[in-house]
Formats: sequence, structure tokens, C-alpha cells
Amino acid sequence: MAVIHVEGRPYEVKEGQHLLAALLTLGFDLPYFCWHPALGSVGACRQCAVKQYQDANDEQGILVMACMTPVQDGMYVSVDDPDAVSFRRAIIEWLMLNHPHDCPVCDEGGECHLQDMTVMSGHTYRRTRFPKRTFRNQDLGPFLHQEMNRCIHCYRCVRFYRDYAGGGDLQPFGTRNQITFARCEDGPLENPFSGNLVEICPTGVFTDETFRKHSSRKWDLQTSPSVCIHCALGCNTIIGERYGALRRISNRYHPQINGYFLCDRGRFGYEFVNREDRLREVRGEALGDLLQRTPAIGIGSPRASLESNYALRSLVGAERFSIGVSDLEARLITSAREILTHTPARVPTLREVEEADAILVLGEDVTNLAPRLDLALRQAVRRQLGQQAAAQGITDWNAAFLKLIEDVKRGEGNLFILSPAATALDGIARRTHRALPGEVARLGFEIAHTVKDSAPAASELVSEIATVLSAAKRPLIVTGTGCLDVRLLRAASNLARVLSSDDRRAGLVIALPECNSLGVSYLGNTGVGVALEALARGEAETLVVLENDLHRRADSDAIEVAIEKARHLVVIDHRTTPLAERADIVLPAATFDEAAGTLLNSEGRLQRFWHAHLPDQPIRAAWRWLGDWKTITDLRAELAQAIPELGGLSEPTPETEGPVPRQSPRYSGRTSMHAHHDVHEKPPPPDPDSPLVFTMEGQPNPSRPELLSRYWAPGWNSVQALTKFQVEVGGMLRGGDPGRRIIEPTDEGNYYASPREDAAGGFVVIPLHLVFGSEELSARAPAVRERVPSSFIALNEAEARRLGVQAGETLSFSLAGRTWTLPLAIRAELPDRAAGLPVGLPGVPPITETTLQIGGRA
Ligand code: SF4
Ligand code: SF4
Ligand code: FES
Repeated sequence: MAVIHVEGRPYEVKEGQHLLAALLTLGFDLPYFCWHPALGSVGACRQCAVKQYQDANDEQGILVMACMTPVQDGMYVSVDDPDAVSFRRAIIEWLMLNHPHDCPVCDEGGECHLQDMTVMSGHTYRRTRFPKRTFRNQDLGPFLHQEMNRCIHCYRCVRFYRDYAGGGDLQPFGTRNQITFARCEDGPLENPFSGNLVEICPTGVFTDETFRKHSSRKWDLQTSPSVCIHCALGCNTIIGERYGALRRISNRYHPQINGYFLCDRGRFGYEFVNREDRLREVRGEALGDLLQRTPAIGIGSPRASLESNYALRSLVGAERFSIGVSDLEARLITSAREILTHTPARVPTLREVEEADAILVLGEDVTNLAPRLDLALRQAVRRQLGQQAAAQGITDWNAAFLKLIEDVKRGEGNLFILSPAATALDGIARRTHRALPGEVARLGFEIAHTVKDSAPAASELVSEIATVLSAAKRPLIVTGTGCLDVRLLRAASNLARVLSSDDRRAGLVIALPECNSLGVSYLGNTGVGVALEALARGEAETLVVLENDLHRRADSDAIEVAIEKARHLVVIDHRTTPLAERADIVLPAATFDEAAGTLLNSEGRLQRFWHAHLPDQPIRAAWRWLGDWKTITDLRAELAQAIPELGGLSEPTPETEGPVPRQSPRYSGRTSMHAHHDVHEKPPPPDPDSPLVFTMEGQPNPSRPELLSRYWAPGWNSVQALTKFQVEVGGMLRGGDPGRRIIEPTDEGNYYASPREDAAGGFVVIPLHLVFGSEELSARAPAVRERVPSSFIALNEAEARRLGVQAGETLSFSLAGRTWTLPLAIRAELPDRAAGLPVGLPGVPPITETTLQIGGRA
């Protein structure tokens, strides 16, 4: 620790950081623009000036930029010094010279860092009279709106987009006073993390296009803390409702998971909840009466909460409950759970992923399956390169130096990728290798064998990877279920096992596709195909389907046979699925913004999400259709008793937490927004399922971060107010990490034997997961739909030539006994005998088998 003197008073601060971070952590209000806790310092905006003195007797001092000045023991500084104050005021006046001053019509208004810093710096009047400079804006597609005239040239956008997220299509253009931040031409930003520009840009240059269509303000949103439901990483979000519709998703800082950033699927995939074609009416008789008369099979869902899945399981009985994924995937996620809970390796948080010093990605395209993991792996590689800078005494927040080193040393980090298809991370990998999943797994087994027995390596590739992983202090193995190949999981498990010892724990990440993929594995292991077979055999007369489109999980012939046999079909969902259209009983289910629930992410962390508003009648939380629990707390208590691993997460209730307001103190229109129906203000609806209330009364508790639904502090109206809720800037939250980890390393488990070779014959299916299109719910959001590509089947050039077909021609193929046709796309990098199928796209069959036969041109 170091002692610094601010305005003559001593404070203890952490060494190694810069003065701006130290002062903000201490609670001083010092304006800044170009610095960001995740991006480091470049000293570009000159807004964070403070006075630094030589010692206690120095009365002159010099102006320094706090973000570029390392903290030193015994240093004397002043934030309030008149020179520093007037310097900061002059800087913001210059920055504002060309600003359009259009706050009333700007979507950032009311939560704008530039507004806050302008007020904080004391700039109140614009003195200049000349015409302002103007720019042409670009059409950036369905996610982002651009208003370039509001730019203050802090360079945060390109530093995030290019340096942090690896994007290539946003850059500064022009010179001097005419610099614009743009693409070469109109069109959507290609990087799947572009939405973070909304929060990174301190002004209203980049705003959320899906939000701005509805002209709302931060203070008019009814907000709740939530968890993203579009992949298994469980990023934390804030969801905001207005007039009964979900209006936006923004980042909720979780120091161990998403930090400051979400992916675009998570941020913009929400509008499926507002669709007109949602299930909104009840059809058929009461479910309880029916189930008392007839035995039922229940098919749950990895996109539904633990509570709803458990409610269905208790209704139909564990032996008649399916976890709602294909049989192939059921085997995989069962194995994933088995491996993760029986390994000496640690399942790392995303923050820990960023600290890995050697990484092997085995067969997974993380950018498309679990996007935020891509960002974490990028930071790990940047950190690895940055360590070389640290050796020369350069601090880890000096962003310009680090960027220089990254550019020079690109490809020299310790990231290895073995995968069947190209990935977005290939460009920063030290080595990549393309092979069929079985071959990738075999290489994984060989590397593990080489490490374990210090055996001679079978190839130079194996030798290099084994050497680097063995030498690492924090080695990390990343795999996933994307390729539907259990051998990859076993190879990764072996590797993580042999790399773990008494003084070193390797990290093991198994990426999973859906928000509760791991959660449902604690409730059973039966896939949809097996459940349908039982129904077809007449083992039950009723099928209850919970929040699941079975046509994504099983062959449609198998579904038909089972449904024909069943006497009753019950669908509980919010989506209009093909089965919902023909069900005898349809029960409309609440979406994640309308009902609370719990998810288990792929790290093994239980997390609660809370609703921002209540659904319209007769829509209810799915679990309420399935039982007579009075509150979700009652249901959770029963769940925890039945499956103790899924219990133990704190249960905030209105009684224990007091009312936590969903509305801000500035919420407007409460007494008038329903005046066209009724001039009397109705009492807020009761909410027995959460400690949050639908009013502005009550007090958010900063020491319960899992219940925080907005970041707001006096003088800090933008998202940058977050610093006031952290123990230290960029670090932990007051009150600790939300959620509860239920998986920790053990010394149990197996070292798997090498698998058999693939039997030759047919093409090996390579499931191609797409960040936009493969996940069921986000693919139904209008903005995301605009980014979903057309369906295709992909082969490499040589295979296409051998079959005598060309790109764009329609190819016929058979999978699981049925014939399909799709246009051919050439993917040069695919290995021979690989056929890529984009997961979840219209016209693409559910991948229920791992090989297919290609017939030729259709
Ligand atoms: S667009 Fe925003 S983030 Fe980029 S330089 Fe301008 S003000 Fe900064
Ligand atoms: S889709 Fe996955 S990576 Fe993206 S925000 Fe949601 S949980 Fe995070
Ligand atoms: S924040 Fe320090 S110079 Fe920009």
C-alpha cells in the first residue's frame, strides 16, 4: 500500500495503479473521458488534470493527467486546486465547441457521461458563435444508431472495438478537427460485441437502435437485475420495461463473469418477448384434472428456469421427465457435468480465464457458441503479451504501450486452437490446426499422454503444445459440446487432469449452448428422442412440453409417431411452436422479463434473475401452471430439498430485504400513463416472488449487488456511476460476487482411455453455431433476425469438386434417414469428409446424428 496526500489529507491506496483510479476509488469526483477501467489509459482527452506537488512545502505544483500518473508513496496532489479546476473547465469547453447541444432529442440524454462531466467541470455557457462542424452519419444496421456530431474524440470506441474486441471495421478517418469514427461504408458493424459501444462511448454517438425506436429515458424504465438467457455463460444484465414491454438490455457488472461487456446476442436478442405472435391465451381444460386421470411424460427445457423444470419433474415424476435436449446432447451434457464435478482442475470464471498463461482450445468455436468467452480469451492473450512489457517496468494500464507490444508480437501469445472450422480467434493464436472432431480429440489425448508420461511427442504440433502447457503456471483447456463429440470432452478432461498438481490447478472450460444446459443435467439425463420413444410405446397417454420447440431437438417423424400415439398434448410456452398450434391444452408462459427464476451457468454458478414487470393475464410463470406453490420461495425450498446441490443460494424476500424499487426516484408519468383508461392511480401490483417492488419507494442496497437494477449516484447519471458500487475501480462489487458456485475441484474422476478411430463412411457433420441465428430465442428478435444468414450446407473445395457441385447449387443429403436439400457454401478451411451445417437455421435438420450421406446435386 502507498500513502498519498489529497488536499493535505493522507489516504492509503493500492500501489501499481494510476492516480485517477485511486482518486475515484477514494470517492473523489474527478472528470475523465478517454480512460476506462477495462481499456486502460492513453492520456488523450486531458480532462482528468490534477495538481501534483513535490512535497508538503511545494505551493506551486504542476498539472498532471491523473490517468497517466502512477501512484507513489508520499505523493501530494490536489483535485480542487484552482489551476486544475480552470484547466478542466477549459478542456471541456473545447470539447464542447462543436457538440450539437441536442440533449433533449439525444437518446443518451439523462444517462450521458458527457453531460455529467460537463456539469462536474463547471462549463455552463457556450461562448463561441461560429457554425459548428458537422459529419455525415452512417447506417450501422439494426443494432446501433450513429450521430457523429456528438463525438468528443476520446478514442474509446476504436480502442474497445479494435484493441479489446478484435474488430476490424471501425476506425478513425480524417485529420485534425475532422476526424470521424466509422466504417468504410454503411452497414452493420461485424464484430459481435459492437453493442458495447453504447456504454463505452461517453456521449450519444453510438446509441441502442432497438431502444431509441421507443423514445424512452433511463429514469422512465422499470428495471430489474437479470441474467442473460442466450447462452450458458450467464452474463449479468439489467432489463428495462416501459408501458408493459421490454425496452432494452444493458450490462450489469459481474466482476467474475461479464465485467463491463455483453455480446450483441445478449444485448439485442430480447425483442422476441414483445412479439405479437406470442402465446397469450389459454386453450383447453385444467392441467391438474387431466394429469390425475392419465399418466404423463414431461419434456423440460434448457431454456427454462430450474424452478419450471423442477415443477414439471415433480408433476410427472423423475422417471418420466426428459431434460429437453436431443439424445446426443443429453449424453454430452451428462458427461460434461460428470467431468466438471470430478476433476482436480478448476472451472474458471471468465475473469480467471483472462489470467491464463497458456490456452488450448479443443474443437470449439467459442465466439459463436458462448460469445463472451471469446472476449475473455482475447484478454488472456493480451495479458500474456503484456507480461513482456511488465518485465520492462511498463504498467498494465498503459494502453498505448501495450497496444504497441501487441501489434509487434501478434501471434506470439500462448493460444492454440485445434478445431474443424475456422474461428474468429484464429488471428491471435500462436498455432491453429484443422481436423475432424475425432482427430482433434485424438490430438488432445496425445498431448495429455505426452504431458503425463513425459513421453516423446507423436508430432511437432503435439510437442509444442505439450511443452507450452507444461511450462505454464495457469494452463487452461477450453472445449465444448458444439461439435457433439464426447471424445473432445474426455480429451479436455485428461489434459486438465494431467496439468493439475498440488501446486498448480489447470482451468477447464466446457462451453455449453443454452442458459440452463448445465442446470437441467442436475434434474435428469433423458433426451427428447428417448422420451418420444416411450410415448410411442404407450407408456403414457399425455405429453407435457415445457418451453421447448421439439422440432429443434428430434426428428419430425419421431415426433409425429409419438404425438399420434398420445391422447393429450399439453404445451406450456411463450413461443408459438409447431406443437403449440396443435396442442389440446396450451398454457401461456411468462418470459424472463415477466417472471423470476434461477439458472446454472456453465461455470457452475447458480444465479437468480428477476422480472421487471408482470405479464398480462392470463400469462403466468410456467411453474405456476404446474403446481400450487404460493410463492417461488416455497418452490425453491422444495427444489433444494430434492436436489441439495441446487440449493444454498440466498433467498431474498420482501420481508428480509425490504422493498427494493424497480422505478427510479425520477420515474415520470406514474399518475398519468394509464389516464386514458382510468384517472385514479392504481396501487402497485403485489409481487410475492421477489423483494423488488413496482414503485419508486424503497431503497436499493449497494451491499446486495444481485438486487441492483441500476447504477446511479449523485452527479453520476451514466453507467459510469458503477465505480461508486465497487470496492475499488474495476474490481469487486460491494457485497461480493452475485451467485453461488456449486462446482469446485476434487481429486476424483477418471483418466479416459484413447477412443477408437472414426469408422470411415459418409461425411462427418460439423455443427456450425452462429452467434446470430443458432440460439432459438434471440433468433426471433427482429433486430437479430436481420443479421441471420441464409441456410446452407458447407463443404471444402476438394469435396465439392469431387461431387461435381459448385457454390450456390442445391445439394441433397440424408441425415437420420431423411433426405434434405440445401444450397452449397464453400468453406475452404473445412477438412475432407466434413459437412458443415448451421445450427438452428430454417430448413436445416436438427443434428441428431453425427454423420450424413451426400447424394449430389438436387
Ligand atoms: S464516437 Fe464516442 S467513443 Fe468514439 S471517439 Fe467519439 S465520443 Fe469517443
Ligand atoms: S449470449 Fe452468452 S455471452 Fe452473450 S451476453 Fe448472453 S450470456 Fe453473455
Ligand atoms: S481520462 Fe485522463 S486524459 Fe483522458
